[in-house]
This record gives sequence, C-alpha cells and structure tokens, in this order.
Amino acid sequence: MYIWAVLNTFIMVTLDWNNLPFGYVKTDFNVRSFYRDGKWSKPEVSDSEYINIHIAATGLHYGQEAFEGLKAYRGKDGKIRVFRWEENAKRLLSSAEGIKMAPVPMDLFKEAVFLAIKKNEKFVPPYGSGASLYVRPLLYGSGAEVGVKPAKEYTFLVFVTPVGPYFKGGVKPVNMLICRDVDRAAPLGTGTIKIGGNYAASLKAIVRAHDEGYGNVLFLDAKEKKYVDECGPANFFGIKNNVYVTPLSSSILPSITNKSLITLAESMGIKTERRPIPVEELAEFEEAGACGTAAVISPIAKIVDADAGKIYEFCKDGKPGPVSMQLYTRLVKIQYGEEADPFGWTTIIE
Ligand SMILES: Cc1ncc(COP(=O)(O)O)c(C=O)c1O
Repeated sequence: MYIWAVLNTFIMVTLDWNNLPFGYVKTDFNVRSFYRDGKWSKPEVSDSEYINIHIAATGLHYGQEAFEGLKAYRGKDGKIRVFRWEENAKRLLSSAEGIKMAPVPMDLFKEAVFLAIKKNEKFVPPYGSGASLYVRPLLYGSGAEVGVKPAKEYTFLVFVTPVGPYFKGGVKPVNMLICRDVDRAAPLGTGTIKIGGNYAASLKAIVRAHDEGYGNVLFLDAKEKKYVDECGPANFFGIKNNVYVTPLSSSILPSITNKSLITLAESMGIKTERRPIPVEELAEFEEAGACGTAAVISPIAKIVDADAGKIYEFCKDGKPGPVSMQLYTRLVKIQYGEEADPFGWTTIIE
C-alpha cells in the first residue's frame, strides 16, 4: 500500500493540458479537518471524493457554508506558486464570522491548502499550457441542529482540480446582461462574504444571461437599482481618462484580483477610484472588464440594459482595451513567475 502511494506520486498524469475545461477533474487527494469540542483536528488526507454528512447538518439546512477559490501555477522555473493565499484565508475568516461558523485559523488554512497542492503535485499543469491548479477550500456546519442556530461542529476541507485557461486562444471580450429583476445580495446582507447562498440567489440571472447568449450578468445595487454592483462571479471595473474605476458597494465580494489590479495600476501610474458607479456612467468608459481568479480579466465588449432600452459598448474593434491588457499581462506574469513579484504576492511551495 505504502509503495503504491509513493509510486503514485511519481506517475505522470496524462491529461490534455491544453484543452482542460474550467470544470471538475478528479485528482488523487483532498484534505479535511474537523471542529469538535471547540478544537480543530490535525488536517488529514483522504482519497475519497465523497463526504459523509449528517442529515440535520446546518450546512444543508441553514446555509452555513462558505468557500474560497485560489490558484497554484507552475512557473517558468518549474516551481509551484500560490497566489495571495493569506487574502483568501482572511476572507474565509470574514465569511465564517458573517454566518457564525467556527473560524479557520490562518495556519490551519495554509497547512491544508499547501498539503492539498503538494499531495496532488502531478496535477499542477505544466508551464506554458495556460492552465493552473484551482484550489477550493470549503467550510460548512456539519453538526446536527433542527432549530435555526449555528452548529457546534464544522468541517473544513480543501480539494484541488486542474483548470484550463479561461480564454482558449487569447483573451476575448464578452457581452453582459443587466438583470433588473433579480438581486444577488442585499445592502446589509451577505454580499461581502463568500457563502453559497449568494451564488444560489444569482443562478436565475446567470442562467438567463447564458440562455440569451451573454457571457454573464451584471447586477445593479439591490436598493435603488442606480449603481453598478458586480458581474456574476467577478468584480466590475471601467477605465476612463486613464483612471481605473471600480464600485464601492456594501453588497459585493472584495475581490483579491481587483485589489491586486488596483495595486498594479497605481504602480504603473494609473489613478484608481473605488466609488459608486451610476449605471449611466457606463457610457463614459473607454474600457470595461470583469475581474476574478478564474479569468483574471474578462474584457467586456457590450453591456445590455434591456429594461432601460440601453446598450453600452466598449472595445468596438472586438479587441480588449490597452489598459486592461497591460494590467492582465503584468498580473499573469507575476503569477507564473515570469516577472519579479515586488509585492510578495506569491508563495513558492517547497
Ligand atoms: C461574487 C464574486 N465576486 C468577485 C469575485 C472575484 O474574487 P477573486 O478575485 O478573489 O477571485 C468572485 C470570485 O471569487 C465572486 O464569486
């Protein structure tokens, strides 16, 4: 058994790295830790893709569930780099606090994430394929309750899956649909944390946007429907007069990619503003994009506000704008270790 486990670590995986989907691909191991009697257990490695869950677990009934998404990249030098894991760990702490779950300490988060990557090292796609290893930490209430209250027991698990580049054959601008009859999150609700309920609430709008041929949906603020909130599973930004503008809102997820792009923009002499963006201001942007871990930047070609009878167009020549591309290229180079990382964003897995 032991010999097989050792051998298995060295067996090459023959996946079609250049044609991986952005979807689930089975890997060998995941890592689990359990919170009981006020303590987290030492992370353990499992080779099962399944969990055994109590029928009255609060994660199933009352939405006590939060997750994260980060990536590991095989660099030009062959080393594996994890991008800004501390930010994901902090965001998971804030999600746990937001829905009263046991917090996952930063060192446990790191240990579980790094262990999951190391145990599945052979699934980290080769440099040059444009693919990466997506890391999905998950925290849920696993203790049984029937009344509406937080569980006493929690499960923290981390699985990984190799994912292809979001855009195969180069970055392509996408179209977005403004959906005025679906709200993803309320102003004083849970939009700023990464819990499953927000995604359940967004599915109706996302499915409609996809069915109508759009790349995704652009949500407006839930209270007044006057300001841009965020795009499906990504933050919004616009560029005008060499200024990077992104929404300030109490119902959007604090994107780690957005935060990184803001730092990069400033380092490149581009001014940045985080403020409410009135919908009509969309007409003034020269470039617009959605940003997040999956694609880094998805440039937006067109935003359709069907109910208001308006269409906002960007990149009229069908190509992503120059500022978006500059930012995209710099961030991706740092992630793959092609360029120095002056901000200390990447951690090499030894
Ligand atoms: C709702 C939402 N907004 C924004 C983002 C982008 O966040 P990040 O850049 O941390 O991936 C995501 C993805 O995690 C998301 O699900």
